[in-house]
Amino acid sequence: MQKIVEVNNLCVRFGDFWAVKNVSFCVNCGEIFGFLGANGAGKTTTIRVICGLINPTSGEVVVDSEHFIRGKEDVIKAKVGYMSQRFTLYNDLSIKENLDFAATTHNVSSKDLQRNKTELFELIQLNRKESTLVSELPSGIKQQVALVAALIHQPKLVVLDEPTAGVSPASRASFWELIRRLTDIGKTVFVTTHYMDEAENCGRIALMRAGELIAMGTVPELKQKTFTGQMYNVTPRTPLADEECAQLAERCVLFEPCGIHYHVIFKDERDLAMFDSGTTVEKIQPSLEDVFIQLVEGRSA
Ligand SMILES: Nc1ncnc2c1ncn2[C@@H]1O[C@H](COP(=O)(O)OP(=O)(O)OP(=O)(O)O)[C@@H](O)[C@H]1O
Ligand SMILES: [Mg+2]
Repeated sequence: MQKIVEVNNLCVRFGDFWAVKNVSFCVNCGEIFGFLGANGAGKTTTIRVICGLINPTSGEVVVDSEHFIRGKEDVIKAKVGYMSQRFTLYNDLSIKENLDFAATTHNVSSKDLQRNKTELFELIQLNRKESTLVSELPSGIKQQVALVAALIHQPKLVVLDEPTAGVSPASRASFWELIRRLTDIGKTVFVTTHYMDEAENCGRIALMRAGELIAMGTVPELKQKTFTGQMYNVTPRTPLADEECAQLAERCVLFEPCGIHYHVIFKDERDLAMFDSGTTVEKIQPSLEDVFIQLVEGRSA
């Protein structure tokens, strides 16, 4: 499998704080690679190194065979389209002005700009005039235009840092449809999200916790590696008291409150009999949310 990103023993220190600690992973060409972790886990910091925006303290980053070299960050920047977590577009500029600006920063010729815009507008099926001010766009469309800006120089790798934060559920679904279409046209997507339903769409996932990479694999691999034993969805007639939960948790490998339900893996399946007849118990497959809670938030560990 051809690799587009290789991160080897990456460390990033801010003062005496290590934001990224000895992280190594690869991203394969053409995949959707999900980079997950709680707030402050080091995702954006890793991304900033991959995009050539900050220097690593130590370790090596290779993007499309180009090694990160201080002073030659532009070589990497040309290969990467980056949609940042906080800033996407200038609200007080039109769609056209934003895209012209993005093209200028990447030295895209006006001929290439026209061609790329036509292709990319078709991809997102933009139905707004280019003269529309970005401030007038709904958040879902704004993110799509931001994606066009990130792709305006035809990068091979697209890095999307929480692209759907603050976007409606319907628009989130449309954005993921676009992400899939990007891989159809040969792009590789590196994406962070706090939405586990979205992360289920990734080919492979890396999980970060407090600057360290703690797990990596396909969604089924992560589910299988994280849990041994059958998971049950347990729904008591009335919510369980804290004390009752604590007692049950003692007897389980996993006992995780999930709204009005509990996700449970028993140490001994005979304990199924301890629930009263008003409790519904059904076999389920673990969700990525279960994996995340178990590994990243360290609960029930
Ligand atoms: N320039 C900086 N100077 C000092 N500390 C920083 C700097 N940038 C990030 N940090 C710290 O490094 C840690 C990792 O931050 P980072 O932004 O990479 O996390 P993240 O996983 O992207 O979190 P989130 O999900 O909230 O976006 C945090 O504790 C953050 O406060
Ligand atoms: Mg971040």
